[in-house]
Amino acid sequence: MRTPIVAGNWKMYKTVAEAVKYVHELRAMVPDVTGVQVVLAPTFTALHPVAEAARGSRIAIAAQDVHWEREGAFTGEVSATMAREAGAEYAIVGHSERRTLFGENDASVNRKVSAVFAAGMTPIACIGETLDQRERNETFDVLDQQITKGFDGLTTDQVGRLVIAYEPVWAIGTGRNATPQQASEAHGHIRTRLRQWFGAEAAAQCRILYGGSVKPGNMAELAGQPDVDGALVGGASLDPRGFYEIVSRSRPTAV
Ligand code: 13P
Repeated sequence: MRTPIVAGNWKMYKTVAEAVKYVHELRAMVPDVTGVQVVLAPTFTALHPVAEAARGSRIAIAAQDVHWEREGAFTGEVSATMAREAGAEYAIVGHSERRTLFGENDASVNRKVSAVFAAGMTPIACIGETLDQRERNETFDVLDQQITKGFDGLTTDQVGRLVIAYEPVWAIGTGRNATPQQASEAHGHIRTRLRQWFGAEAAAQCRILYGGSVKPGNMAELAGQPDVDGALVGGASLDPRGFYEIVSRSRPTAV
């Protein structure tokens, strides 16, 4: 049985003061939600204060990105080990904004996923097709490429612990979420490939989150799809009440 994860990716929003206030509000709401892992991904500057504010609660912390080396002459970068020390247990890697705006690719995702595991953390690795690719019927080919290159060399045990976020690029920040059928089809495809390439056990354990215009109003239906194990939420995670509502609708039993 896979425990769903609902992660809020705050992107470049919230000062430290705003972030800490949010955590105090959210932690007052989440104790009654069981069977879901709640994760918040603040900016690097807010990582430690948010981790401290969430200490002893049901909320875990994620970095939004990490570098693949432990340390070195990489101006502006933060390593997985450093994010771990600041309080992060998860790290998002390969988000489409990193891929399109900052030149990330499957090869860098591959190195980052390994670095996150090496730091004793859990990667949340993002994959997904653009609108052009979907319209050209290339969705499955794109996902296959992202999986083979991005997760190359991982052990079956690591794939079992990996969290994949399927985020169709056309659904991110557009208000146009994938339909439950589109999400189900893509998630089913990803799990089939994991089974073929990494074995049945790893495929059964790997959590696959959906991301792209998730809101309180569409979470329950998405969560009701068999291979959807939660969500990676952008804009709708910025308000604690709205995020709590998404969390509380994230279990299939809650549908
Ligand atoms: P939105 O929920 O704002 O569409 O963003 C999704 C996302 O990019 C989460 O990582």
